Amino acid sequence: MCGIVAYVGPKDAAPILLEGLQRLEYRGYDSAGLAVLNKGIKTRKVKGRVADLASAVPARFKGGIGIGHTRWATHGVPSDVNAHPHLDSSERIAVVHNGIIENADELRAKLTADGAEFASETDTEVLAHLIARTVKDTDTLADAVRTALKSVVGTYGIAVLDAERPGEVVVARNGSPIVLGIGEKEMFAASDVAALVRYTRQVVHLEDGELAVLDSDGFHTFTMDARETAKEPLTVDWDAGHYDTGGYEHYLLKEISEQPETVARTLRGRLDDRFHIAHLGGLNLTPHETRAFRRVKIIGCGSAYYSGQIGAQLIEELARIPADAEPASEFRYRNPVVEHDTLYVAISQSGETYDTLAAVQELKRKGGRVLGIVNTVGSAIARECDGGVYLHAGPEVSVASTKAFTSTAVAFGLLALHFGRVHDLSPADGRRICEGLRRLPGQIAEILEKEQEIAELARKYAGHPSMMFVGRVRGYPVAREGAQKLKEISYVHAEAYPASELKHGPLALIGPDMPTVAIVPDDELLDKNLTTLGEIRARGGQVLMVGHRVAEPKLVDDCIVVPKNEVELDPILLTIPLQIFAYHAAVALGRDVDKPRNLAKSVTVE
Ligand code: AGP
Repeated sequence: MCGIVAYVGPKDAAPILLEGLQRLEYRGYDSAGLAVLNKGIKTRKVKGRVADLASAVPARFKGGIGIGHTRWATHGVPSDVNAHPHLDSSERIAVVHNGIIENADELRAKLTADGAEFASETDTEVLAHLIARTVKDTDTLADAVRTALKSVVGTYGIAVLDAERPGEVVVARNGSPIVLGIGEKEMFAASDVAALVRYTRQVVHLEDGELAVLDSDGFHTFTMDARETAKEPLTVDWDAGHYDTGGYEHYLLKEISEQPETVARTLRGRLDDRFHIAHLGGLNLTPHETRAFRRVKIIGCGSAYYSGQIGAQLIEELARIPADAEPASEFRYRNPVVEHDTLYVAISQSGETYDTLAAVQELKRKGGRVLGIVNTVGSAIARECDGGVYLHAGPEVSVASTKAFTSTAVAFGLLALHFGRVHDLSPADGRRICEGLRRLPGQIAEILEKEQEIAELARKYAGHPSMMFVGRVRGYPVAREGAQKLKEISYVHAEAYPASELKHGPLALIGPDMPTVAIVPDDELLDKNLTTLGEIRARGGQVLMVGHRVAEPKLVDDCIVVPKNEVELDPILLTIPLQIFAYHAAVALGRDVDKPRNLAKSVTVE
C-alpha cells in the first residue's frame, strides 16, 4: 500500500523518482506526487497514475534531492490535495508516508489549536506539521523526526526533506517497509527494492523502530533513542528486467506464462533422489524437532491463504499430521491458543502483508515456532520467522497473484514430502512425490499451450454477472482461488463452495444466469463430483468442467482437460487454467488487468 522513493545525489532527482514510482505503482495507484529541493521545496502532485504525474512535471525540474509517492488512499479521497508529499504551513518540511497514523485526529486538533493550517484530509499531514514544530529546536533533522515520531501512534514508512538542510533525506520505519539503496556517491530509499534495482543491487533493510540519514556520501542508521546501528548491505539478485512486461501485454500474462520456469526454480536443488526426500536448508528444524510437532497451523491472506489450504491437505495426506489453514487477518484478532507442539507456517508473497506480519509477531510473542513461505528475500515476514522456504519465483508485479500462488503450493509439496519422510511416508511414496514434483514444470507448459482454447471459453462465460466455482476436498481450494482470481480482476461476482455443500443452500442460485466452474480431478471422488454436475445441469445451470477427462455432454457444456499428476499434487495444475480463464475474462471485459480497482499489491495496513 503506497510506494515511497527518495534520492540524494548529484543527478536531478525527478526522473529517478518517476522511474522508481512507476516500478512501485502496483503498491497503490490513485494519486502520485514528488518534491525536490532547489532553493526551497518544489512539489508536483496529481490525482491519477504515475504517468499523469510525469506529464505534470516540467522537463527542467531541477534538484538533486527529492522524495516521491504513489498512493492507495486510506485517509481522504484520492485528489491532488491529498496526494503526497505533504508540507507544513511554512513549506520547510515535506513528508511522504506509507502506513496509518492512528492518533491523527487527536494530533490534528492539537496542532490546529497551536496555529497549524491543514491543507489536506490525510493523516500524513500531521507528520509534516509535527516535524516542522520540533525542527526549530533541534540540531539535526533526524532529531526532529525522532522527537515528532514519539507522539505518533500507528504505522509508518516515511521520507522527509528539510528545505533548510538541503544535503540530506531522513527516512524512518515502523510497520511499513523502507529499503536503502547504496550507489556511487548517491543514495536511494524506497518501500520496495523494485524501485532500486535499476540503480543498485546493494540494499539495506531498515528494522521497525529504525531511522536513517542519507546524504550523497552514504547513510547512517539509528534507533529511535539515537543509538547508531550497524547494518550489513545485502546483494539482491532481482534485476530491472524482472520488472518489465517482457513483450507481454500485461504483467499478469507474463507471470502466468513464467510458471514452468518459476516452479522449476522453487524446486531447484531441493529434491534428493537417493532418499526420496526434500532438502529445505532454511527450516532450522532437526528431524527430532520435526517429529515432535503434533499439528501444523498455516496462516496467510487472500490467495496466500488458499495456497495454504492446498498445503494443509498435502501435509495431512503425505505426513499424516493434522493441518489446517486460516486467514491471518482473522487469526491475529482472536487471541489464538498457541501450543508448543504446533508448528505455525506463515505465507506471503510480498513478505509485508500487515495482517500476516502481525499474526507472526503475536505467535512469536506467545512462544510459537513459525516458519515462513515467502517470495521476497529479506522482507519483514521472512526476517520475523524462525526459518522457512523462499519461493525464488522472482518479483510478482501484477496485483493478482499467480506464480507466487503456484510456487507456494509447490513449496508445500516439498515441505509435506520432508515432513512425510521424517514420519511414515514410505520411500516408494517419497519417490512417487519427487517424480510428480519434477513433472510439474513440463505439465504447466502443456497447460499454457491451451491458452487460446481457454481464452475462447473465458469470452463465452465472461458476460454472465455471476459464476459459481465448486470443488470437493482437494478441488475446493482450487475453486476458491479460481473464484478469487475471476472476481479481483474481472469484477464478475464469483462464489466458491465445496461441491458437497451445494444442496445445503447455494443450489438455489443455480440457473441459466449462473454458470458453474467445476473442479473435477480423476481421484477417488470422481463419481461424487460427476453426480453434482448432473444436479447442476438438471437445474438449467451451465457447467465448465476443469479436470483430467472430457465428461459426457449430458453433464457438462465445456471441459478444460489438464495433464494428470499424482492425486496429491493435482490441485497445483488444476489452478493454472483458472488463472488463464480469469485473465482472458478480464481482458474481454476491458478491465485494468494489472491494477484492478480498489486493490493494491502489498496490503501493509490493517
Ligand atoms: C491475490 O491475487 C491477492 N491480490 C491477495 O489476495 C494476496 O494474495 C494477499 O493480499 C496476500 O499477499 P501476500 O502474499 O503478499 O502476503
